[in-house]
Amino acid sequence: MESCRRHFTLLWAIALSWSIICVNMFTTSAEQLGDLSDYELASFDNPDILDEPQRRASKFNHFTLSDHGDVYVGAVNWLYRLNSSLEEIQNVSTCDDSRPDSGMSCYRTNNYNKILAVDSTRPNSLITCGGVYDGICQLRQLWDINNVIMESVLNVAAGFEDASTVWMLTQGRGGEAMLFVAVTNSRENVRPITRRNLDTNSFLSAREDDDSIFFSVSPISVVHPKYVAAFDLSGFTYFLVSQKEDLNSFVSKISRVCQGGPNLAAYTEITLQCSGSDGSVYSLVQAAHFGPAGPDLATSLGLHADEQVLYAVFAKNQGAPGTSDVPIDHSALCMYRMTDILAAFREAVRGCIQDGNIGNGPNKIDYLEGSFCNGYGISILDRYFCTPVTNDQNQTPLFKYAKGIAPVPSTAILELPGTLTSSVITTIEVNHTIALIGTSSGDLLKVNYP
Ligand SMILES: *[C@@H]1O[C@H](CO)[C@@H](O)[C@H](O)[C@H]1NC(C)=O
Ligand SMILES: *[C@@H]1O[C@H](CO)[C@@H](O)[C@H](O)[C@H]1NC(C)=O
Ligand SMILES: *[C@@H]1O[C@H](CO)[C@@H](O)[C@H](O)[C@H]1NC(C)=O
Repeated sequence: MESCRRHFTLLWAIALSWSIICVNMFTTSAEQLGDLSDYELASFDNPDILDEPQRRASKFNHFTLSDHGDVYVGAVNWLYRLNSSLEEIQNVSTCDDSRPDSGMSCYRTNNYNKILAVDSTRPNSLITCGGVYDGICQLRQLWDINNVIMESVLNVAAGFEDASTVWMLTQGRGGEAMLFVAVTNSRENVRPITRRNLDTNSFLSAREDDDSIFFSVSPISVVHPKYVAAFDLSGFTYFLVSQKEDLNSFVSKISRVCQGGPNLAAYTEITLQCSGSDGSVYSLVQAAHFGPAGPDLATSLGLHADEQVLYAVFAKNQGAPGTSDVPIDHSALCMYRMTDILAAFREAVRGCIQDGNIGNGPNKIDYLEGSFCNGYGISILDRYFCTPVTNDQNQTPLFKYAKGIAPVPSTAILELPGTLTSSVITTIEVNHTIALIGTSSGDLLKVNYP
């Protein structure tokens, strides 16, 4: 089995592995078990497989595709360029101990790939970021990943293996393309959320005032956000995250920033709840995917045809419900209507603007620097989601960073005792919604609705 697993390492990175299990939503029984080799077209093994205890160095972190069909793999200490048959064309070590940089070096820790993005704003360009060397990134040539065109400013990506980094390359301030990045605060200088310019001048820098959100507290012990996904919808970049909410509770959230706003002051977050059929709590979001509901799912749940839905897999946590950020092998798939999520964002902003600091300002975010709710009895305009100042000459600030009070609830449509999920994607075939769920033990679940 182990060799079988290794054989499928790249596919595993794409959330496939040695077996495929088909299940139906609302049931947890495995209906069919198949061997993935039936589906295999090509595979790639990381050649740099070390013996224990360095085995972790063989891991893949990310992969991406270029327009011309090549596959780029960001692995621990290595980058690979493969052709569309997954044959290795090129490799680059990202662990060069001769570098003079301060901070963590490869000598002391492996270099985990943290960001791997084709830079579609210019030809032949790939952005790669690792955790060591102060979290800097390189702009490389797609056709020759050895060729570093330039390096970025410091502290773009998070450091250690478990320090999460998610990103989205999309239109930002003034309509120019920017890289939106959310990271676990593994170092003092790392800001949790930034949008970064792609200019060659000061590559991937983020203005402190307009393009960054700072923690107001010593971050490492207090919030410890673990970002799992970023996506793009109608002018906003959304992040899925699990984090410490107050002294003793961990929750999952969806947050968003306005992409084209003058700054990130309108950042807003709301809590997502995922409950089992017995009311138990799945507190830790593990992965999420945003897409349409298929006609059958839409009909049976009373959604509009093609209504946008957020699919997210959650895990229960070790210890009493919600008291730790350590996931256990007990997962669930929850679904949220995007209309409910948008309504919750609106309510969070409404509460912050209209109720202000009444009752200690429950809508302001204490752990972010400078958050306030001003308390104006005005009606809520959509423009406040991007530009939170009054719509008059005075431009009086209305709020900075808002959070929702009531969580958006959902009851699991699939519960998986004994399984820790790690990825989810959905697709529609004829009228059926199909979710493909990857697990931490290397299985792929194909979940059909109904
Ligand atoms: C990197 O490429 C070189 C030259 O093709 C090859 O000899 C080496 O085995 C490769 N190393 C890895 C880890 O892929
Ligand atoms: C990929 O590379 C291999 C080895 O060089 C070659 O045999 C194969 O034809 C290539 N596949 C494509 C689709 O280019
Ligand atoms: C798919 O759904 C549409 C609209 O609900 C229906 O008209 C059509 O017959 C369905 N197709 C199949 C193959 O069930």
